[in-house]
Amino acid sequence: MKWLSNRYAYPLVIFAILLSTALQVAWLHQLFLAQQKQVKIDLERITAEAAKVCSFMSLVPGHEGNENFKQFFLSPEWTQFKQAYTNMRFNQIGSRFDDQYIGDSTIVNISLRFHNGKVRKKTHNRVSRFNFGEPLSVTMAKDRRDLRRIDSLMKVEIGKIGFSLTSYNAIRDYNNDKITGPLSEDMLRKAAFVSQQYAYNLKFFNTFQLVVPSIDGLVLYRMRYYLISSVMMLLLTVAVFIFILRLMYNQRLYAQARLAFTSNMTHELKTPVATVAIALESIIENKLENDPVTLRNYLDISRSELKRLNLMIDKVLNIEQMDSGQDRFRTELFDVQLCLQEVFSSMQLQLQNASASLQWQPLEQPCFLSGDPVHLANVFYNLIENAIKYGGKGMVLDISCRRIPGEVQISFKDNGPGIPVVYQNQIFDRYFRVPAGTADIHNVKGTGLGLNYVKQVIEKHGGRIRLHSEPGSGSNFIIYLPAAPYEL
Ligand SMILES: Nc1ncnc2c1ncn2[C@@H]1O[C@H](COP(=O)(O)OP(=O)(O)O)[C@@H](O)[C@H]1O
Ligand SMILES: [Mg+2]
Repeated sequence: MKWLSNRYAYPLVIFAILLSTALQVAWLHQLFLAQQKQVKIDLERITAEAAKVCSFMSLVPGHEGNENFKQFFLSPEWTQFKQAYTNMRFNQIGSRFDDQYIGDSTIVNISLRFHNGKVRKKTHNRVSRFNFGEPLSVTMAKDRRDLRRIDSLMKVEIGKIGFSLTSYNAIRDYNNDKITGPLSEDMLRKAAFVSQQYAYNLKFFNTFQLVVPSIDGLVLYRMRYYLISSVMMLLLTVAVFIFILRLMYNQRLYAQARLAFTSNMTHELKTPVATVAIALESIIENKLENDPVTLRNYLDISRSELKRLNLMIDKVLNIEQMDSGQDRFRTELFDVQLCLQEVFSSMQLQLQNASASLQWQPLEQPCFLSGDPVHLANVFYNLIENAIKYGGKGMVLDISCRRIPGEVQISFKDNGPGIPVVYQNQIFDRYFRVPAGTADIHNVKGTGLGLNYVKQVIEKHGGRIRLHSEPGSGSNFIIYLPAAPYEL
């Protein structure tokens, strides 16, 4: 992993995210184009289908139940033929289909009108030149009915798409190709989709076209699952990268913290050894056996330094034991307030030296816990030691014990420098120490093991520890431990 140092990791991650975004965009674009084509094919198909059904329905009265009739007029061959016929338009050639009952049969005529000679003045309606076998007004009324019919058929078909699509029907005069109605040629040119012209009955007065101004919405709607999965993929990629980067960042912090631990630890171990060495040296050099008062003084110093050394070693050993699972918790029932009191008296000197004061109002009733008094005493010791170490001169430490349903709550509240919010989660990590120079935190030596040990012990007891702190207004560590079972 060495080659993947942070210098390369960030550009690499950004490059990978950009590349996968670009690939996704390119892929989606291709898909969009393909879907656009497909949407046009589908719209053409439903228009053709509606036109086919409509012209069949205009013929059907009188032939209901005639399977031959149905088979023929709904066949693709007929559709093709009629469409070809619709499209075959030449100047001055009129064309028309016509159906008549003659005897027991229906005759469908396909007529073409070739105009011979000069163009006559358009004084009368051109269609009147065809004989429909019924008054023209009746034929025209049927045509209007068919128009309404194709309109509603189209509405049904478009409704089936499952997307609210804005569409219009363009009706063109069959003879001169002009649009009748409110739509303009300009609108048709700008529209995203315009279908072919279809005849919707056999009379060929008009043709019908479906006009859809914009199909992008429908295309995107059809692509919705791909779009969603693409976005999810991207989010997932980004999340994974963030996770990896954070992991790397934490690892680097851990490595740095470990390094700091070694140097701090060396310092903490060397100081008492050096002090004791100097004391012994002085005793020998100065032959202090003749000066019992100074000798006693030097021996006291040595003893307290060795005690400190012992505590340090215990701290490291405790953590090691916890890790290897060799911690033997001796669970017993005890009053946590008595345990706290013992810790206080053993720390009297430290409190005095730091001119710190301790406020403690014990409850009248005992607070029974089932746990290991030695480890819990260490926990309390660590928390008080931290308050003294980081609280500075004149620190006031407020300790209280409360019984809440099913739990015992022990609070350690100091008025020290507090802990910045960004570090509050990390503070319980092994080797972690708030970097010197942050806020008002003093440059105090330490190992970063204390709170990690505290957390582990509390959790092994089935409890939890919470920190409430703000820089400048002190820290409040609150421990919750399950109360002894018989109290529940
Ligand atoms: N009461 C407190 N006030 C301010 N900072 C604290 C307090 N207790 C702990 N800290 C911060 O948390 C860090 C971790 O504490 P700890 O695990 O006991 O390690 P150590 O005391 O050996 O540095 C300390 O380095 C200190 O920055
Ligand atoms: Mg500590």
